[in-house]
Amino acid sequence: MNFRLLNKASYDAAYSKSIAQSDDFWAEIAAYYHWETNWNSVQQCNMKTAHFSWFEGGKTNICFNAVDRHLKERSNEIAYIFEPNNPEEATTIISYQKLHDEVCRYANLLKLFNVKKGDRVCIYLPMIPELVYAVLACARIGAVHSVVFAGFSSQSLAARIQDCEAKLIITADGSFRGAKSVNLKAIADEAIQTCPSIVKSLIVRRTGEKIELGSKDIDVHDVLPKLSTNCEITWMDAEDPLFILYTSGSTGKPKGMLHTTGGYMVYTGYTFKNVFAYETGDIYWCTADIGWITGHSYIVYGPLLNGATSVLFEGTPTFPDAGRFWNVIDKHKVTQFYTAPTAIRSLAKESLEFVTKYRMDSLKVIGSVGEPINEEAWQWYNEHIGKKKCPIVDTWWQTETGGILISPLPNITELIPTYATKPLPGIQPVLLDEHKNEIEAQSGTGNLCIKRAWPSIARTIYGDHQRYIDTYFSAYPGYYFTGDGALRDENGNYRITGRVDDVIIVSGHNLGTAPIEDAINEHPLVAESAIVGFPHDIKGNALYGFVTLKNENPNEVELKKEINQYIADAIGPIAKLDKIQFTSGLPKTRSGKIMRRILRKIAEGDFSNFGDISTLLNPEIVEEIKNGKQ
Ligand code: WTA
Repeated sequence: MNFRLLNKASYDAAYSKSIAQSDDFWAEIAAYYHWETNWNSVQQCNMKTAHFSWFEGGKTNICFNAVDRHLKERSNEIAYIFEPNNPEEATTIISYQKLHDEVCRYANLLKLFNVKKGDRVCIYLPMIPELVYAVLACARIGAVHSVVFAGFSSQSLAARIQDCEAKLIITADGSFRGAKSVNLKAIADEAIQTCPSIVKSLIVRRTGEKIELGSKDIDVHDVLPKLSTNCEITWMDAEDPLFILYTSGSTGKPKGMLHTTGGYMVYTGYTFKNVFAYETGDIYWCTADIGWITGHSYIVYGPLLNGATSVLFEGTPTFPDAGRFWNVIDKHKVTQFYTAPTAIRSLAKESLEFVTKYRMDSLKVIGSVGEPINEEAWQWYNEHIGKKKCPIVDTWWQTETGGILISPLPNITELIPTYATKPLPGIQPVLLDEHKNEIEAQSGTGNLCIKRAWPSIARTIYGDHQRYIDTYFSAYPGYYFTGDGALRDENGNYRITGRVDDVIIVSGHNLGTAPIEDAINEHPLVAESAIVGFPHDIKGNALYGFVTLKNENPNEVELKKEINQYIADAIGPIAKLDKIQFTSGLPKTRSGKIMRRILRKIAEGDFSNFGDISTLLNPEIVEEIKNGKQ
């Protein structure tokens, strides 16, 4: 598709047009796709009520645009190269034709179990091709997919199914993760017990372990071979829901971010092409999991909308050894590689021999996503992986934004280590000060907001529009508030400094403090808890828990283990605490609010200046906590 920006002048022109004549700009890009019926108006957006409508009146289908549209000329081109967890297992090549056929089979499977347009389908699968088939099958028939990352616990899975009242779950017997395997079906079975909305559980075979089929279970392999490899497209209104993806919030309940069809399609396709400078013949690889937004937008939809060839990777960065990523890059001659700073930092810690064994001379562009990339990791990535010849695209965006908003464009815009740099066309970032005023000076620091809507902005929090308004549109009326702090240099480049709310990013995963505290407080010996983040070499941030107990003499070593088990059960192992400190109290304001600022400083080991603690209800506790720092 020809919306590729080729040089600085075309970026500047596109950016200006996207602001001055926004409708025309997006209409031209949308015109590259197939629309069964044309739209009436390009955009109707209201930041106060948080109502956003793009391409209203238009009818399309994102699966048609991602798959069928390529069949006429490119049916034998490769959509995915599936690289399994175990390098000794053969790679699977999935052409666009094969993708179409399998997606249709899965769509027919959904229909067989009476899934209709608008029904929610929960997908709890490892990183295998069936995950892509299931996602696209939903899109094809207008069902709303809710993919849940397969590292989440049964309680987390249940909460997500209950929230959207999914009718069906698609899961697997198990998943392979490095040298281990996880019995996903057991986790799903436990979750389903508290999910009356689920009528069927479809089981994909991956690990081949013995499973018992219960009354709701269907072994998909018993049914799929009998189903047709054709399935009619359901034409969707541009604003019909496409998917729900849950992200952490500052209360215990996860937020089901709802994305719709037309705008999401237009934006992810456009940004994929331009941020990764994808050209025919390139082999693109994003190492994220499809259970997160990065996988939705830049493993499934963005690449397929461009007819791209991607590596789909089931494994982990360190199995069978810390050279796996670099090995796969050489094996498949990867040209664009997109990963997370936490992976870069953990691999940079290993012997360089794992890297120098490989040539990696196919690489053209390398990318980073999920959290700020620190200077050291940026330089290592640039030197050892990009060999100083591959631009690093440090892409800033969120589950809520649907696609990348701020990023360099390879060989077009400037690169500055640790900076996400410039907004993409259509995006107007601003920094707001503590008085809610826009910082007018060219350079400054503030809370990052976006001034006007873009096509893939989330439309609501599923079932709770008020929470959507409260979370994103009320702190700074008239703006979308990102929850991130940022600084801007004198040339208009943005550097994201990190979250300014109760979300902590651990190894690239967003974790809300409230759900973790809720999990800990379930323990019968725990009275109260507070979680803060502290800097960690590899994970970026790690979690530090301050816990007060009901009983004064527990076995602390055992109790710490139990607390982490409670967290693993409620959320998943990713939310376990690195440090736990038992204390007789937590610093509180007179209104009873925990002063996290103080706890954060203690966890960071910064005892220099706690500010005014005289307003605390219990100032003496600060000394005790300082002395007990882990
Ligand atoms: C953080 C991931 C700095 C940020 C796509 C954001 C980043 C949150 C970057 C969203 C980056 C993501 N530089 N910080 N390049 N990319 N973040 O919803 O704090 O999982 O608000 O979406 O990750 O995380 P989410």
